[in-house]
Amino acid sequence: MENAPDSDLTHESLIHDLNNVFDTITEAAELLRTDRRWKSLAATLSRTVVRGKRLLGAIPDSTPYLAAIIDDSIQSVTDYCVAARKPRMRFVRQIPNDFRLPGSSKDWERVFANLFLNSAQVMNKPGRIDIGAEQQKDSLTITVADNGPGIPAEILPRLFRPNVSTKLSSSKRTGLGLHIVYSIVKKYSGSVTAENRVRATGAIFTILLPVN
Ligand SMILES: Nc1ncnc2c1ncn2[C@@H]1O[C@H](COP(=O)(O)OP(=O)(O)OP(=O)(O)O)[C@@H](O)[C@H]1O
Ligand SMILES: [Mg+2]
Repeated sequence: MENAPDSDLTHESLIHDLNNVFDTITEAAELLRTDRRWKSLAATLSRTVVRGKRLLGAIPDSTPYLAAIIDDSIQSVTDYCVAARKPRMRFVRQIPNDFRLPGSSKDWERVFANLFLNSAQVMNKPGRIDIGAEQQKDSLTITVADNGPGIPAEILPRLFRPNVSTKLSSSKRTGLGLHIVYSIVKKYSGSVTAENRVRATGAIFTILLPVN
């Protein structure tokens, strides 16, 4: 008899099993696509599967151009708003096409998807998100500003810590979005800060990144 093989519960085996989950969703989306009424929702599901596979590392990463990453993240949050029947957000972006970020594009997609998702989730009417970027000599500043209710003052000083949330949920998995943002920005030696707007309502997030 052959020796028993090593057991395999690595990240690779998790990707394998999650790919099977994604394949079922893809098949369901294909089925929905055949009915005119569900065509658009089918496309949402397919895009979401591709996003999930990219996050998992099951499909290759692309070059981290800021403008392209912002566009993907906008699509991701727009898909959420449509599927969750939340008011749509208007995105206004002023980003030169050639601004490049360090590292992996899937990391940055997580950063912007979490920021945009938070804005969409606190909004109960159609809102607006302004995204700007400016390159200085040795740094890049990216701002994301919304016109929502603003961040509650009591959580502002510890906003980037894990499990800080105003969501009504007892799950340990809430209050992680901004901690993920903080952790990814830190991985690239940058900083992220949050404040509320002064002359209007809304929150502003500023990411400062060193560039070579
Ligand atoms: N743009 C924003 N405007 C107003 N409040 C915000 C905004 N972004 C975050 N917050 C506040 O910060 C809290 C923490 O955000 P974070 O993304 O870390 O966690 P969450 O959204 O509550 O849960 P999770 O992201 O894990 O689903 C939110 O619950 C919300 O109260
Ligand atoms: Mg969040």
